[in-house]
Amino acid sequence: MRVVSGIQPTGSLHLGNYLGAIRNWAAMQDSLEDDAECMFFLADLHAISMPHNPAELHAATLEMTAALVACGIDPARSILFNQAQVPAHAELQWLLNGTARMGWLNRMTQFKDKSGKNREGASVALFTYPVLQAADVLLHQATHVPVGEDQKQHLELARDIAIKFNNDFGEGEEIFTLPEPIIPPGAARIMSLRDGSKKMSKSDPSDMSRINLSDDVDTIARKVKKAKTDPEPLPSEEAGLEERPEARNLVTIYATLSGKSVAEVLADHGGEGFGQFKPALAELMVESLAPIVTRFVELKQDREALDAILARGAARAREIGVPTLDAAYKALGLVRGR
Ligand code: TYM
Repeated sequence: MRVVSGIQPTGSLHLGNYLGAIRNWAAMQDSLEDDAECMFFLADLHAISMPHNPAELHAATLEMTAALVACGIDPARSILFNQAQVPAHAELQWLLNGTARMGWLNRMTQFKDKSGKNREGASVALFTYPVLQAADVLLHQATHVPVGEDQKQHLELARDIAIKFNNDFGEGEEIFTLPEPIIPPGAARIMSLRDGSKKMSKSDPSDMSRINLSDDVDTIARKVKKAKTDPEPLPSEEAGLEERPEARNLVTIYATLSGKSVAEVLADHGGEGFGQFKPALAELMVESLAPIVTRFVELKQDREALDAILARGAARAREIGVPTLDAAYKALGLVRGR
């Protein structure tokens, strides 16, 4: 079993990343058998698909490394690295570009969302982004990929690429393992605090739309207080959340943080207005995030330790990835000496 997943180091880690993915990464790491392995990486190569500021990307890559460790990713047990130090990711992407079809990429909803109306002005990298994502997991023969719901389509594409490559060039051998997405049932999609129809995202221009790991107690309280809601009190049963996306989102967050089901939260809080529920939610958030924030603040100041973590992780990732990369070159008939 090999678990592989990544996160883009753009902006800071938010509650959606944490509940939708990173918490699951840590849980998988903690429950692994001895012969299984976890690889988690900063998708810095993906981050250049959108206009970006180099100094900010540099700082965010180190900060996000600190954030992952603060969330429980243990670099002594998991392989933690950034793509830019493992060139095999970019190399394999090029090889897979020969297998991926334009039609497959044309169907990717994230490209449509991120390019918006300016399709002609979008970078080529934004279009081929899912092929790099396929390379990320196929390079390391990932069996399990813990992600939030929004990444499901990209992983289906990775499977399609692997199937076609194995078929076309494998000569009966499985050059790539088919990866399985692992999506947490409750918190797969945490929505924006300003608009219950949009996912909580690092790229939302409004900071009020998300809870960042770096937010202090007052900021969290203010963001929850200002979160968009409707005037009705909370229902006591789940059916009452239909057509109430903002209310559903706050209840989902509460349930995930407290380890309860949505039904249990509604059994306890049904009938409460948001004036009562929001302070309880803010308190729960602060309580759950405080230990992470304290560690994060400490870790991000130790540049040397962060560099060392990434260098060590990259060296391991290169060892693991290179045999698969070599097999792909060979299968394609590319000459690289003997
Ligand atoms: P990214 O950086 O947008 O998000 C990292 C992880 O957080 C999850 N996530 C969410 N989950 C629930 N609710 C939300 N509002 C929310 N926002 C983000 C994402 O699903 C993801 O699991 N393309 C990927 C990074 C990547 C990757 C990979 C992932 C690159 N290569 C290979 C897995 C395997 C991305 O941009 O995630």
